[in-house]
Amino acid sequence: MALLTVENIKKSFGKTEVLKGITFSLEKGEVLSIIGSSGSGKTTLLRCLNFLETPQMGCITVNGETLFDAADSRTLSEAAIRLNRLHFGLVFQQFNLFPQYTVKQNITLAEELLAKEHIKKTGSYCGHTDYHEAVAAIDKKADGLLEEVGLSDKRDNYPCQLSGGQQQRVAIARALAMEPDILCFDEPTSALDPELTGEVLRVIRELKKAGRTMIIVTHEMEFARDVSDTVMFMDGGVVAEMGPPEQVIGNPQNSRTKEFLSRFNER
Ligand SMILES: Nc1ncnc2c1ncn2[C@@H]1O[C@H](COP(=O)(O)OP(=O)(O)O)[C@@H](O)[C@H]1O
Ligand SMILES: [Mg+2]
Repeated sequence: MALLTVENIKKSFGKTEVLKGITFSLEKGEVLSIIGSSGSGKTTLLRCLNFLETPQMGCITVNGETLFDAADSRTLSEAAIRLNRLHFGLVFQQFNLFPQYTVKQNITLAEELLAKEHIKKTGSYCGHTDYHEAVAAIDKKADGLLEEVGLSDKRDNYPCQLSGGQQQRVAIARALAMEPDILCFDEPTSALDPELTGEVLRVIRELKKAGRTMIIVTHEMEFARDVSDTVMFMDGGVVAEMGPPEQVIGNPQNSRTKEFLSRFNER
C-alpha cells in the first residue's frame, strides 16, 4: 500500500484554477521531486498537502487513512486539521524560524505544546505523565536532531546569529521533530547564496539515505536527478510528465518538459 495517495486535487483562487486535478502516490522511503516554471502550482500543491489550503476537489490519504476528502461535506475541525498536519513536515524557502527563540527552542516548541495539551487531556504524552519529564525527553531528541543536521554547537544561538544555510538546517531539524511521515521542501535552497546550498542539499541526501519519505520542490536539476526516485514536471496546474529522473530530466518525452529543461540549461 502506498504511504501517500493524492487523488484529483483541484484548487482555485476565485476564478483562477491553479491545480487542475493532481494525482500521484508515494511509497514509504520514496523521494519525489517536483519541477516546473514559476506559477505552475508547486507551492499551492505543497500547501494543500500541509492543510494550509483547502482544495475544492480531491482526496488525500496517508497510510490508508483518508485525511481529506472534498466529497465529504463535513468541514474538518481545527483539531482534526492539526492532527492531519502532523503527518507532514514543511520546510519553506525562507526558513521561517522564530527569531525570538534559540535554535533548540525552535525545534522543541511545537512538541512541548503538544505534550502539554496531551497530558492535560489524557494524562500522559509518549509514556510521560509529568510535563517536565516529557520536556526533558523532547530536549534530548532535539540534541539528536541537531547532531543529524550538524549544528550541535549552535544549540543556544538565535537565528540571526546563523548563516542562511545553518538556519535552513535548523528548519529541517524542526520539521523532523514532529516525526512526520512525509517531509516536504519548497525550494529549500532558493533563498541561499550558491556557496551555502551544498550544506543543505547534503543534509537532504543524508535524510534520503536514512529512508525518509520526501517531496522536494526544487530548481536544482542535478540534485533532483541524483536524489529522486520519481520526478514530476508540473505545468499550468497539471502533471505534464512524471517518471524516473533518467526519463523526466535525462530524456523527457513531453514537449513542454523538453522546453522547460532547455530554457533551464541555457541559464
Ligand atoms: N492565495 C492565493 N490567492 C490567489 N492566487 C494565488 C494564491 N496562491 C497562489 N496563487 C496563484 O496560483 C498560481 C500558482 O502559484 P504557486 O503555487 O505559488 O506556483 P509555483 O510555486 O509553482 O511558483 C500563481 O498564478 C499564483 O499567483
Ligand atoms: Mg513556489
